[in-house]
Amino acid sequence: MLGNRRPVARRALVLGATLLVVWGGEARADTERPVTQSTMREIFQALTVAYRLSFDDDPEQREAMTQALRALSNSAHRLLAHGGELNQSFDFLRASLARDAREALYHYESGNHRSARFVLQELTENCFACHSKLPSERTFGLGKEFLASVRIADLEPVDRARLEVATRQFDAALSTYEQALQSRAESPTYIDLNGTVSNYLRIALCVRNDPARAEKALLAFQKRPDTPRYLRDHVERWRETLNVLKPVLNSKRELEAARRAVAQAQSRAVFPSERYGLVQYVAAQCLLNRFVDSNPKDADVLAEAFYLLGVADAHITHGIWVSETEYFLEASIRFAPGSRFAEPAYAFLEEYILTGYTGSAGVNLPPDMSKLLDELRALIDSAN
Ligand code: HEC
Repeated sequence: MLGNRRPVARRALVLGATLLVVWGGEARADTERPVTQSTMREIFQALTVAYRLSFDDDPEQREAMTQALRALSNSAHRLLAHGGELNQSFDFLRASLARDAREALYHYESGNHRSARFVLQELTENCFACHSKLPSERTFGLGKEFLASVRIADLEPVDRARLEVATRQFDAALSTYEQALQSRAESPTYIDLNGTVSNYLRIALCVRNDPARAEKALLAFQKRPDTPRYLRDHVERWRETLNVLKPVLNSKRELEAARRAVAQAQSRAVFPSERYGLVQYVAAQCLLNRFVDSNPKDADVLAEAFYLLGVADAHITHGIWVSETEYFLEASIRFAPGSRFAEPAYAFLEEYILTGYTGSAGVNLPPDMSKLLDELRALIDSAN
């Protein structure tokens, strides 16, 4: 059983071999991606104009809205075509953002403004997923100005925090999550299940490397008088793990450290809950993203890193729109179909897809998904 993941049905994106280009760059700090930064500023500009206009849907502003959505789609496609400064772990999200931006534009131009607005809100999950991967120290002042100028107070905290991460206001996002963890408007169970805890951990650990802050916030969550016993027990384990993992997060041997974290999480995946391993999975993700960003060349090594990324991702609660799990597992197999990670990656992917497309009406596997599984199976068989 794979715990706590959303259905994969809507968002599966079959990539095929073409997108997996061999990335030839060097590891970069977050201040050294000039092309990405300038494309990002265009994306930000277009998104924020469209976002603001979508609140009112003023007929006078239709032309401005169309232009903003067109600019967003164009710059997202530029990132897709020229995203060479970003390592391969970003490939899926580049494609996903471009597709979502085109879809929002399409709905708007077809007069379907509500759907356009919905896609526009959801597509910020792509921004979140990319921005939560790597450490960042760079500040982005325009993001702060934007947030101060829109009516974000009406948004649910988890949506507001997502917008804060999309606009690179990481400290504001951490505060929003911390308030959400204490909000009496929602039950602790709901706050956990809607992704607040895991998204908070991703930003606190992967972007800010601040396990002490996370530990404190989790303790306060655990101590809420309305936190049920099972959840207190989970949070207790997460806090213990945070303490143990503090030095591990700084490891320079990221792949080995991630491998150990995933193995530990899996060894605890016993009744009554697989979720005990949440902190290990998030820590593994932080380490693996840094590892892939250091530009390893060996295909077998990449196969392992992407396999572990897939396993970790499947165990971390997401929003409803974007999931990278299938992509990581597919990429793992394509890197090295003959490696010892290909079989477990295939088994994991097959289970993930089949259970994701099975409901009370039976198995409803779209043809592209079954074609993908056949293709990957054939790749592995011919490599062995
Ligand atoms: C494919 C991954 C990816 C997606 C999708 C993505 N970003 Fe980014 N973004 C990055 C990375 C990586 C950086 C950090 C670049 C650096 O500083 O080296 C960044 C930086 C930024 C910056 C800061 C630029 C600067 O000058 O410091 C802004 C603003 C931004 N992104 C906005 C957005 C918004 C808004 C979205 C969604 C509509 C988005 N991004 C989607 C990867 C992504």
